[in-house]
Amino acid sequence: MMQYDVVIVGAGIAGLYAALHLPTSKKVLIINKAQPWECNTFYAQGGITTARNDADIPVHISDTMNAGAGMCNAEAVSVLSHQSQDVIDDLITRGFEFDRDDAGHLLYTKEAAHSENRILHAGGDATGRHIHHFLLGKNPHPMLSEATVIDLLIEEEQACGVLVDYKGTRRQIRAGHVIIASGGVGSLYEFHTNAYSISGDIQGICVEKNIKLEMMEMMQFHPTVYVGNTSVQKQLLSEALRGEGAIVEDENGYRFLFDYDEHGELAPRDIVSRAIFDYSQKHHQQVYLSFKKFDNEYFQKRFPNIYLNLNALGFNLPRQRVPISPAFHYAIGGIKTNLDGEVESVKGLYAIGEVASTGVHGANRLASNSLLEGLVFARRAAKKVLAFKATECPQIVQVTEEVLIREGDKAKKDRLRRIMWDKVSIVRTHDGLREAKEEIDAMLVKKIGRLLKLRLLTAREIVKSALARKTSIGVHYIS
Ligand code: SIN
Repeated sequence: MMQYDVVIVGAGIAGLYAALHLPTSKKVLIINKAQPWECNTFYAQGGITTARNDADIPVHISDTMNAGAGMCNAEAVSVLSHQSQDVIDDLITRGFEFDRDDAGHLLYTKEAAHSENRILHAGGDATGRHIHHFLLGKNPHPMLSEATVIDLLIEEEQACGVLVDYKGTRRQIRAGHVIIASGGVGSLYEFHTNAYSISGDIQGICVEKNIKLEMMEMMQFHPTVYVGNTSVQKQLLSEALRGEGAIVEDENGYRFLFDYDEHGELAPRDIVSRAIFDYSQKHHQQVYLSFKKFDNEYFQKRFPNIYLNLNALGFNLPRQRVPISPAFHYAIGGIKTNLDGEVESVKGLYAIGEVASTGVHGANRLASNSLLEGLVFARRAAKKVLAFKATECPQIVQVTEEVLIREGDKAKKDRLRRIMWDKVSIVRTHDGLREAKEEIDAMLVKKIGRLLKLRLLTAREIVKSALARKTSIGVHYIS
């Protein structure tokens, strides 16, 4: 058994930024399920939002609340926006380099539903990768990679650590503060943009332990994804492309999005995703993202990774258009926390980043608010950790002894991904949701391994929340 002061589960932007705010006088361990770069932060392309200045704060707040369809937690949005300039300044002061123009001024781009150019980026279209690399370089604490958290140690409503499977061996890692920063649920869906390791395991443990998840029906789909590649993770085509002039068109070059919303390509993400889905179903047409407005040289400099990745898949950008489909992108719902990342029912337990539900995104997340959320709430949680002394945990804590993987799990896992895509994605029906729940329930009573069970518990929670919300709002659309 290993004893730490703080255990952080997950090494994306939230986990690493929290770690950066914990001094080395504290014994901190970061636990990471796969290789350090396999997190959603690494794959984030477009950028990170910030209020441009104090005058922009109310505008950023209003854009966030409007995108969130009135379901945001106003206090959380206010915290997010008011602290945005501060966390960005902190990154810059520590040496992070955002993209700048030749005169050295920060470059701000635009994404859908922002009324201002307020998105900072790095490496052109590799913002997440650059921030992740930077934070990894600054991280002062040890990291245990390729360790899967298979249980939370909780006794008498106090967090006591985690149980991990490390290369086939189970270990208890004890700590009085446990910060969960493990990301969303991408692998529950057949088509998604997430790192392969993101599969909602900890949300499943929370279901088992009666730790409250909220807004789980709010699953966000990115409108412009190339899904023709063979890997599980699909190729994101950043919203910044549309922000800078890429257009969505049908096979004949018709810009049908304006039939759905006057803002066309720059309408909120849920509207664009649904319009693409609806149009391609009704008209049996392939939908494309076209870059004809871009100059060749500018495109390669501004979007170097999209250029290279799509080139490797056989597309000559910006001359050639790319067939697109919406795909699962971001879990808005998650572990309910307060404004300091605390899970109020368990002392010493925190959730930050995509795994958390702070309420900032409401029913539809405003583009590029998620990296910002990761920074702002990670720092607040780290401050809380430092302000409180954890209580002693008992020596013996009940943990799972379930087998992790059983024969037949892989086929059931694939079936789950299909059910979620067919019945719990962009357009839902009550019948479809009920069928999804029945199938998930049936799989849960079979002899299955723990890892599949945790996925199923999380998926069931998404379906149950979707069934409980009878009317359409934001990303939750019931036909
Ligand atoms: C993108 O680059 O389109 C992703 C931005 C986001 O998900 O916020």
